[in-house]
Amino acid sequence: MQIVSVSSLKGGVGKSSVTLGLASAALQEGVPTLVVDLDPHADATTGLGVRARHGHDVGEVLARPRRGALEKVLMASSWAVQEGRDSKALDVAPGSARSSRFDRSDYRDKDLGRLERALAGTAGYELVLVDCPPTLSALTRTAWAASDKVLSVAEPSLFSVAGTKRTMTAIAQFEQSRTWAVPAAGVVVNKVRHSSAEHRHRLDELAELFGPLLVDPVLPDLPVWQQAQGAAWPIHRWPGGEARDLAGRYTALLRGLLGRSA
Ligand SMILES: Nc1ncnc2c1ncn2[C@@H]1O[C@H](COP(=O)(O)OP(=O)(O)OP(=O)(O)O)[C@@H](O)[C@H]1O
Ligand SMILES: [Mg+2]
Repeated sequence: MQIVSVSSLKGGVGKSSVTLGLASAALQEGVPTLVVDLDPHADATTGLGVRARHGHDVGEVLARPRRGALEKVLMASSWAVQEGRDSKALDVAPGSARSSRFDRSDYRDKDLGRLERALAGTAGYELVLVDCPPTLSALTRTAWAASDKVLSVAEPSLFSVAGTKRTMTAIAQFEQSRTWAVPAAGVVVNKVRHSSAEHRHRLDELAELFGPLLVDPVLPDLPVWQQAQGAAWPIHRWPGGEARDLAGRYTALLRGLLGRSA
């Protein structure tokens, strides 16, 4: 089971979108996947066509992170249900505002093990994707502590390049200061417009700063993504050439993550 956090200390860059795109690719490829929605705004949960039942959400799991606590809140994504897939094809640990009480800057180190503990009893998934809030809070660190890999999402813009630097520095510091190691990090570049000189300049800058950590391919800025998300529909099933392009890129990202050849 590979646990991947999708993270960025800057808001709105596409963390939830990358989570959803990878989940869509995983469903297409038949990779049993669990999405854990740590963001109190629960956008990934909404995008997967799920709504948390009261008391059955990530906030509850974090409050009582016993073995088996996660299983009790899991729901099948409507994407998998529509396709008539078996259980565990694509499941969601739904987010809700209740997890915001863990979204704080003062915390004890031992609190950061809550998700790791809850995940320990979870079996049957090849991939776990954790969608994080855009802050360096206890919630984000809780995700990192449970993860094998952190994907940091960046846009080709000045503020996002700066935000990515902050994120990568924070991950490095987290590794040094903790008993939990985060062995791998990568930078996914989203919302790219190759026609924009500014974007091309920022892409070069990201390549210079992060070199081999930059994940290939980059993800283009395509309005079709917002349409598919608005319909809570997987990008791999959305019609048209642009959706196919985006879907193919997410499949390539997924295969890279899982170490599978193209
Ligand atoms: N490649 C893309 N092309 C077009 N629109 C995109 C793309 N990626 C994301 N978006 C849009 O940008 C907006 C922000 O994306 P998203 O919610 O995924 O970001 P986020 O980093 O999760 O935000 P937050 O910090 O609020 O959690 C959404 O409206 C989403 O549909
Ligand atoms: Mg989000």
